[in-house]
Amino acid sequence: MIRGMIRCKCLNDALDSNPGCAFDGLMSDDAPDLKSAYALNTPQDSRRLYAEWAGDYDQSFAAREDYQLHVHTARAFVAAGGQGPVLDVGAGTGLCGAVLGDLGVGPIDATDISAEMLDQAMRKDIYRDAIEADLNLGIPVPHESYSGIVSSGTFTTGHVGPDAIDALLPVARHGAQFALSINAKHYDSAGFAAKLAELAETRIQALSLKETRIYGDLATGEHRDDIALIAVFSKR
Ligand SMILES: C[S@@+](CC[C@H](N)C(=O)[O-])C[C@H]1O[C@@H](n2cnc3c(N)ncnc32)[C@H](O)[C@@H]1O
Repeated sequence: MIRGMIRCKCLNDALDSNPGCAFDGLMSDDAPDLKSAYALNTPQDSRRLYAEWAGDYDQSFAAREDYQLHVHTARAFVAAGGQGPVLDVGAGTGLCGAVLGDLGVGPIDATDISAEMLDQAMRKDIYRDAIEADLNLGIPVPHESYSGIVSSGTFTTGHVGPDAIDALLPVARHGAQFALSINAKHYDSAGFAAKLAELAETRIQALSLKETRIYGDLATGEHRDDIALIAVFSKR
């Protein structure tokens, strides 16, 4: 079923038979990695990189670098009282949704700019729906669809900035719980403090920022000590 830009599990069949059908096919010579992810500049760059990375993201990146941010983000959401229905923003291959599901949260929808990442996520049987969308342009679902919004690893260098939060507020219900991880360097350089302070005046409440390591003790890469802030707040 495809509702506008909303894709569900049966999209997997189409992507299986023609894996290049949903992107414009430009591939780099080098294997995708964190360095190439941080060097992204545009949504089109993201589509290309993640189309190429989707198949082995869990192994070549998450497992190898002992990635933990999705776990911290899901736990922060639940600790704040978050409940379904939840939208997982920049859901990628579904790592955060899997932790939420294990914690008893549902139903969960996934949204991402990359059809290939969403295809991987939908194979895990965690999500109710997958919504292919550029967060900078809004999420094509009815207003006030969700009681919770989570995002891990997407508010980061080369990906989406603070104004993308504006696209999330309309799809959240009044009182909806948010837990959004924001790379600490990106937080400073992209102006998240000013954006959250502005929103706190009228649109969000109970804002807290929890500092956490993005990777675990087994990480070896140059970013192994990188920090994220998990912004936890609710919609007024
Ligand atoms: C580092 S991955 C994180 C995936 C997953 N949340 C996790 O924690 O493993 C970042 C994700 O953001 C998505 N993304 C990048 N730019 C986006 C945009 N403009 N709109 C929606 N998703 C975007 C990418 O396709 C990718 O799946």
